[in-house]
Amino acid sequence: MNDVIFEAIGVSKQFGPPQGILGRAAVAMGLGSAPKRLQAVNDVTLTIRQGEVLGLVGESGCGKSTFGRIAAGILPPSDGKVQVRAGDGVADDTREIHKTVQMVFQNPYGSLNPRMRVDQLLSEGAVYHGLVNRKDTTEFVAQLLLQVGLDASYAARYPHQFSGGQRQRIAIARALALEPSLVVCDEAVSALDVSIQAQVLNLFQHLREQRNLAYLFISHNLAVVEYLADRVAIMYLGRVVEVAPAEALFARPNHPYTRALIADAPRIEAKPVSYRPIKGEMPSPLNVPSGCPFHPRCPQAMAVCKQVRPDMVEVDAGHLSACHLNAPGAGTQ
Ligand SMILES: Nc1ncnc2c1ncn2[C@@H]1O[C@H](COP(=O)(O)OP(=O)(O)OP(=O)(O)O)[C@@H](O)[C@H]1O
Ligand code: SF4
Ligand SMILES: [Mg+2]
Repeated sequence: MNDVIFEAIGVSKQFGPPQGILGRAAVAMGLGSAPKRLQAVNDVTLTIRQGEVLGLVGESGCGKSTFGRIAAGILPPSDGKVQVRAGDGVADDTREIHKTVQMVFQNPYGSLNPRMRVDQLLSEGAVYHGLVNRKDTTEFVAQLLLQVGLDASYAARYPHQFSGGQRQRIAIARALALEPSLVVCDEAVSALDVSIQAQVLNLFQHLREQRNLAYLFISHNLAVVEYLADRVAIMYLGRVVEVAPAEALFARPNHPYTRALIADAPRIEAKPVSYRPIKGEMPSPLNVPSGCPFHPRCPQAMAVCKQVRPDMVEVDAGHLSACHLNAPGAGTQ
């Protein structure tokens, strides 16, 4: 796996009632129809290298958080698997995934147990995983707080005694406590004031440099993704439809969905900008369109798009896109 520390291989997730043997038999006998299952994530294959930041972008409901939770071992996939580097090999068991991948959520208040003091919040996982002795936790917690820019004296406080930005720093410290190689940040700065966002983003950058940390960075904010990410994956209705180095993706987006998403959006400007709403509603993941799932909204859709799902093809070095327009002779872009 060389410097690859994380790999998702054909990961899918469906929600809804599973169809047991009796259900399948009833459908086969014409005694009922199969209950619909919601396809939240569909056959996603992605790798992340040590120290790399992979941005994950797509409209609301496209499956980003579901994929993030699967990546962090919080949610089991329905199909496919996640594996992480472990020693000289790879491992796909939940314990090893939890040690390697940690998650920081949008709402730090919701993710921190309000009845636990900061020192308990920061040390319980590390003690459980044998990374620190119980008698050494005071120094351990003090070091973690310092690393995220907080005073060691905060160890005795409770989450409600902090501001939103400070709470997010505590959530980051808790993630770091297990010495992960990868942190999944799910809209981790979205709920913060713009000035606090910049400070927390700087902290992410700093920790990355200091610890060679990798991030799966899920965000609605294109400016933030462009600032932080080395590569960006674009998700639509549970599938990754384009993945490319960040610079190439923003300068030369290939997929019509990516182009619609970032078209003319001012970026790296004073104000962070979310992507624009795209014409037409995103179809329900309960009824994913046939062929290319973007075809009902795509201005360049062709007859083949309704029938055949396009494969991911490399359109440039490290730049993959799933669109029939890339087939030889399919027309100019
Ligand atoms: N536990 C669940 N049970 C049933 N459906 C779920 C569950 N979690 C997510 N979903 C559905 O799966 C789809 C993907 O949801 P997800 O939260 O992953 O999207 P998202 O891209 O993170 O959206 P947002 O940008 O709004 O956070 C949505 O249709 C959502 O309603
Ligand atoms: S495959 Fe067809 S419908 Fe899908 S994005 Fe490409 S041109 Fe549009
Ligand atoms: Mg989400």
